[in-house]
Amino acid sequence: MTAMVKAEGVHKSFGPVQVLKGIDLEVAPREVFCLIGPSGSGKSTFLRCINHLEKINSGRLYVDGDLVGYRQKGDKLYELKDREVAEKRRDIGMVFQRFNLFPHMTALENVIEAPVQVKRESKAVARERALKLLDRVGLADKAGNYPSQLSGGQQQRVAIARALAMEPKLMLFDEPTSALDPELVGDVLDVMRGLAEDGMTMIVVTHEMGFAREVGDSVVFMDDGVVVESGHPREVLTNPRHERTKSFLSKVL
Ligand SMILES: Nc1ncnc2c1ncn2[C@@H]1O[C@H](COP(=O)(O)OP(=O)(O)OP(=O)(O)O)[C@@H](O)[C@H]1O
Ligand SMILES: [Mg+2]
Repeated sequence: MTAMVKAEGVHKSFGPVQVLKGIDLEVAPREVFCLIGPSGSGKSTFLRCINHLEKINSGRLYVDGDLVGYRQKGDKLYELKDREVAEKRRDIGMVFQRFNLFPHMTALENVIEAPVQVKRESKAVARERALKLLDRVGLADKAGNYPSQLSGGQQQRVAIARALAMEPKLMLFDEPTSALDPELVGDVLDVMRGLAEDGMTMIVVTHEMGFAREVGDSVVFMDDGVVVESGHPREVLTNPRHERTKSFLSKVL
């Protein structure tokens, strides 16, 4: 079975600062893969490398068997053109800490925007799917609301619906609930749990250890640009082997 994401010795620096120092990991199709670790350990950078918002310095990164950002011919690598990179990126949905909805568009318009503009889908088809997606994230009755008329948790669920509208094969979540008031977190996590149940492959950077334990198939603890420890959530979260993992967990649990 082809891994959905495979990293081999991935290195990334910003100038002289090494942020990723050789990341090796594999995410299987349909897996919910939770990435935890202290601030500055390189979690967001790694996500950004997966959809080629950042270019890696060395190593290999594959999404669904394809090298990210390059085409391989024999043993030579050729960089993809911007247009080709953009095409690949469409298969990957990304949800950030801040919702980044278009403020001048309703929830529905936010969700149909990319399918219509990027995929050249008809408005009718896009609209029908968008309404289903808004229903799926529990916002069927908010389709006509502008972002300013929605709570943070509702905006984040629109952002998830918007990412799903492109029918991605992989979803990346970068601390999707950490900007939310505590009472709004649950609804967003419930939507993510539903996605997991439907078999979506997900990489989730999160501080929600409850979510990682209940929904995660695996947990990776990253620190200072390396994978310190990985495995089943039960092992990593309840029985960590490394001091660094123990010390991190004692602070967040
Ligand atoms: N564009 C950039 N230019 C220079 N340094 C950067 C850039 N992006 C990230 N870094 C640095 O890389 C390191 C890792 O950052 P990253 O955002 O990946 O960490 P993180 O694990 O996501 O942290 P957090 O939990 O706070 O979100 C940090 O030291 C950060 O300052
Ligand atoms: Mg981050």
